[in-house]
Formats: sequence, structure tokens, C-alpha cells
Amino acid sequence: MPSVTVQDSSPSKLVGGHPESRPRISAPLTYTGSLDKLIQSYADVTPAIGREISGLQIRDLLKLEDDVVFRDLAVLISQRGVVFLKSQDVTPTEMKDFMLRLTEASGCPSSSGLHVHPLTEEGSELGDQISVISSEKQKKGGGLTHQLSDVSRFASAGWHSDITFEKVPSDYAMLKIHTLPETGGDTLWTSGYEIYDRLSGPMKIFLEGLTATHDASFFHDEARRLGNPIREGIRGSPLNQGGNLAAVHPVIRTNPVTGWKSVYINKGFTKRINGVTKDESDVLLAYLFNLVTQNHDAQVRFRWSANDLAIWDNRSTLHCATYDYDAARAGDRVCSLGEAPYLDTNSTGRREALGS
Ligand code: SIN
Repeated sequence: MPSVTVQDSSPSKLVGGHPESRPRISAPLTYTGSLDKLIQSYADVTPAIGREISGLQIRDLLKLEDDVVFRDLAVLISQRGVVFLKSQDVTPTEMKDFMLRLTEASGCPSSSGLHVHPLTEEGSELGDQISVISSEKQKKGGGLTHQLSDVSRFASAGWHSDITFEKVPSDYAMLKIHTLPETGGDTLWTSGYEIYDRLSGPMKIFLEGLTATHDASFFHDEARRLGNPIREGIRGSPLNQGGNLAAVHPVIRTNPVTGWKSVYINKGFTKRINGVTKDESDVLLAYLFNLVTQNHDAQVRFRWSANDLAIWDNRSTLHCATYDYDAARAGDRVCSLGEAPYLDTNSTGRREALGS
């Protein structure tokens, strides 16, 4: 366990969050350089988001006793939004071990662990904390684009951050794709920091005063269709349990690892901006969703090869799968839980912090 300090949660500075789910760090983390000697090279994939790291097998990091490398990796992921590692040997069990060390090293609340998705089958072969990503499930109408329902068929309908319907949503997620079509099945990510930075000053101030409701009630229909009950026990945090798959979060949140503000809404789960009329909420959400989907210069698109792996920060990115293939595509995903989302009114946007 890294030495992280207890949050000095002066209530006048933090808006939102939950007293039982605060980060254990009181200031953003700084990269110490411990990863530099372990990797061959790296390249930023676009200016706004994404870094590809070469020459590192993440399973090797599990042998390290000190968590400083995990903390440094968390800083890189949180700063760059998503990190890609080619051809990884890691097993699903090692993925879980790795994600626990990553989230703990970066100061997640002591009440947070790995998420159990409400749709994960009890007694599932790979364990409760692995979500199997599979084109076969998708064909049965699973996932965010829930093809058997009357929802938008735009490819961009799938933009989301993982599990924002939980009171304590995800900080980091790891996805390894092991089965792939010859072409297609790319995944896109966009930077929530960059979306925040594209708002005007008055719009930033307005949105910083608002919360939004994130709702995944449609998972109840999906559970009925698949014949599996929703998981109502503790889903990685004592605050995440029961059958009500909805939560209220700030529209702008602060990432504790970087200290940067990010827009925190997504097409998949955010249904309503609270405290304004429905018409105003619809207009605001449509505008924010347009910022996400129409700014390809805030995005990165990753073309997978078998056993490639991505680790991203769900607090400050959104992502979208591409369903443009017929052959099988499958992989495993692990989501760790961070803090209950909050806005630190003293935090800044990324551009301001970096002086760019
Ligand atoms: C996800 O939404 O977490 C999975 C993305 C993908 O299948 O590419």
C-alpha cells in the first residue's frame, strides 16, 4: 500500500462526493519517473489523448513489491486518459490483481474495490469482477446500444464512461481483447478534460453548479431478456448495492490524481441535468454530447491486435466501441472503483494547469 495522506476535506472546497467514499490523497500525484527504466519507448497517439507504451509486460509489474511504479502508471493514465500496451500475456486473474494495486496506489477510498457489474452472471467462469466483452452477447441485444430496443442506431450512441449509474463509479478500467475480426472493432476514447476546456468561461461556471442523473434502468430489461437476475449485493463499494441503478453526480468533476476538471456526462447513462427544466436539460445534454462526438481532435481511435490491452481513466474520458464486423470479437474487462465524484472548486482545467 503506498503512503497516501488522508484527504483534508474542507467542505467549502468540495462540492458533491460522499463522506464514506473520499480519495485518500489530498493533492494531485506527481510522476516520479520510475517507469522510464522499465519501458522501451512511448508515443503520444494524439495531442489531446492516448499514449502507446512499448516494451512492457504489465504482468511483470506484479512482481514488484513497491507500489511506486503503479502510482506512476496511474499518473500517466490519468494525464493521458488512456494507455495502450501491445501483445500482453496477462491472465484475467492477473488483470484483477493489477487493477487492485493500481487503484490503491493512486489513493482510492478504502471502501472501494473492483466492480461487480449488475449483469455479471453469478458463478461466472472468470469470477464476479471480470466483465466479458463479447460480440455473441451483443447479438443477443446486450450492451449500451441494446439492439433489441427502440434506440438510436447511430454508431455514436455508444459513447459512455463505465458504470456512471453507480454512486461510486469507476476510476480505472482495463480491457484486453483476445479474439478479433480481421478488420473492424476499433475503440474510440475522448478526453473529458479537453471537452471541459472547449467550454466558454460563463458556460463552465454555469455547468459547475449543476448535477446530472445517470440511469441504467434498461439493464433490468436486459437481465430479464438474458434470464439472469441483476446483482443486488455489494458491487465493489458498500454504496453500490440494491436494484436502483441510478446516481446523481456533478456535471463537472475533479480528477483527484491530476487535479484537473472534466466534463462528466455520457450518452449511455446521463438522462437528465437536474434543477433546470426538461427542455433546458435536453438542449444542454445535446450540446455536451455534440462536443464529445463531433470533436475528433479530442479523440483517439485504437485498432486492436490480438491480446492488446488498454487502461483508461473513466473519470476523465469517454469511450465508444465500433460494431462494424460480423466475425467474433471478445475480451475481458476489469473496472476498479474510485471516489464518489466531486468538484473541487479550487481545481483548474488541464490547459490552465499545463499553461497551454
Ligand atoms: C467497453 O465499453 O468497455 C468495451 C469497449 C469495446 O468493446 O471496445
